[in-house]
Amino acid sequence: MFDVADFHLRQRGDFGRELCYFDELESTNVTAEKLAKDGYPEGTVVLANSQTQGRGRKGNPWFSPPDVNLYFSVILHPQLAHVPYLPFITALSLLKACEEVGLQGNLKWPNDILINEKKACGILIQTAVEEQTLQYAVIGCGINVNLREFPEDLKGKVTSIALEKGATVHRESLLASILFHLEEIYRRMPAIDWKDFCAELERRSTFLRGCEVEVHQEGNTYVGTSAGLDSHGGLLVKIENSVKVFYAGEIQACRKK
Ligand code: BTN
Repeated sequence: MFDVADFHLRQRGDFGRELCYFDELESTNVTAEKLAKDGYPEGTVVLANSQTQGRGRKGNPWFSPPDVNLYFSVILHPQLAHVPYLPFITALSLLKACEEVGLQGNLKWPNDILINEKKACGILIQTAVEEQTLQYAVIGCGINVNLREFPEDLKGKVTSIALEKGATVHRESLLASILFHLEEIYRRMPAIDWKDFCAELERRSTFLRGCEVEVHQEGNTYVGTSAGLDSHGGLLVKIENSVKVFYAGEIQACRKK
């Protein structure tokens, strides 16, 4: 079980003061969307000890067994113009929290966190826009914390923080750390210089610049060299003599030059 009282003792900011904890949920994103529609405030966190229908990007399931990992969603009300940056501020907060437990994560565009080349964290952001007004954003994070056994289809592709660190990690402290960093970066968002922010991300990613990438998008495959992010979070890829920008897609293969 997750110790909610212990989490509150370790909390360093306001995100998560409203913590809606459930032993089991279908998906924390689904519940967070309902609560957002019911008017729950910014910084509300929905946390589940397990999920029965954890969702990943592109309709993939998210493996969500009890007692070992973190599955949570944060309700936010950012400016509509800032929505494209949400995956990146979330990724940076996860990377900083990994650093606090002594691990160097690697951002795989758009928003997977790898540790030692295997996926340890995933981010799923959902937004509701009506008449060009953002109603809410829900940031869902799945983090393999103390998981040590994986289903057959995930073996070799995913890892956990505990496996990479060689020690069990305190979930309550880790969540407090992630929410602290997320809130700190989120509050700075209106004043962030995107170029500086990208530089900070590039220092934590082997994929974003100077990397030979294969991008899969809508059934097409593009091969080129990554050249950083544009001002909307799109991945710039030099392909022969031109630069193409990707706002969606999957990097399937990547080799640092
Ligand atoms: C991905 O990498 O495909 C994104 C995975 C996101 C999983 C998290 S777990 C908490 C939240 N609730 C969900 O159903 N999904 C996200």
